[in-house]
Amino acid sequence: MESVAEPSLAPVPAGPIPAGLRDALERRIGAGNLELPMLPNVATQLLDGKVAERADLAEISELLHTDQAITGHVLRIANSAAYGGSGRIQSIQQALLRIGLTQLREIVLAVAVQNGVFRVQGHETLVSQLWKHSAVAGAYAREIARSLRTNAESSFLCGLLHDVGKPVVLGLALGIDADLSDEMCTAVLDPYHAPVGRVLAETWSLPGAIVESITHHHEPTAAATHGPSVNIACLANLFAHLVLDRPDDEDALRAHPACVALNLYPEDLDALIAKRDDMLAVADGLTV
Ligand SMILES: [Fe+2]
Ligand SMILES: [Fe+2]
Repeated sequence: MESVAEPSLAPVPAGPIPAGLRDALERRIGAGNLELPMLPNVATQLLDGKVAERADLAEISELLHTDQAITGHVLRIANSAAYGGSGRIQSIQQALLRIGLTQLREIVLAVAVQNGVFRVQGHETLVSQLWKHSAVAGAYAREIARSLRTNAESSFLCGLLHDVGKPVVLGLALGIDADLSDEMCTAVLDPYHAPVGRVLAETWSLPGAIVESITHHHEPTAAATHGPSVNIACLANLFAHLVLDRPDDEDALRAHPACVALNLYPEDLDALIAKRDDMLAVADGLTV
């Protein structure tokens, strides 16, 4: 495994997390003792971009067939209403022709991350909520990027992965205390998910825009590079909360500095808010 930067931990204010748990978590995170999940080879190769650049249908199809679990999910999603078309798709090559390489890559990565990271035994409800939030943020990040005429696929991944540290932190906390209450499982996520997500993203050698988005989506002004991507991820996170669990936060979203940084006008935000149902449908389509 390649070396990764030490995660920087901001001081966590005294709150609901008991001192013993907080100390144990910070010791393990500080020591890099994280038991990180692997990204399946097929996803790594597609993220690398070289395979995608060649856009060789037969090569991509062959690559996908090395992972039957992913292939099955990709075919199911390509046949779902969100990507609807006439006739049933039965092969990856047909799926590629119907939905295109960019969307195929998105689906493969969504399936890989869901299966590989968003799984914590005994806590399925919380983790599926975390996944849904991530999927909606991915959909919104792509939509924001489209309205800004910037890179939609990269933005989708920044949104989809912005909270990828959360299930890892949950697993870590449960490794320290298997009997954590539901309330405590949620409480440990906020302070640690960004630095832990960063370590995961660097271990997976994800592109810089994604690493920065994971690290700084709650404070985009702290990002030294990839400012637009981080602002898009920040806003996508707020949109996901608005449509899923914080319906009263519209004013706060509209007043957020990320809107100014991205040059989004009130009418742009109106249009994005109006796409709520489409974004939820995209997220459902990405859920296995
Ligand atoms: Fe977050
Ligand atoms: Fe989030």
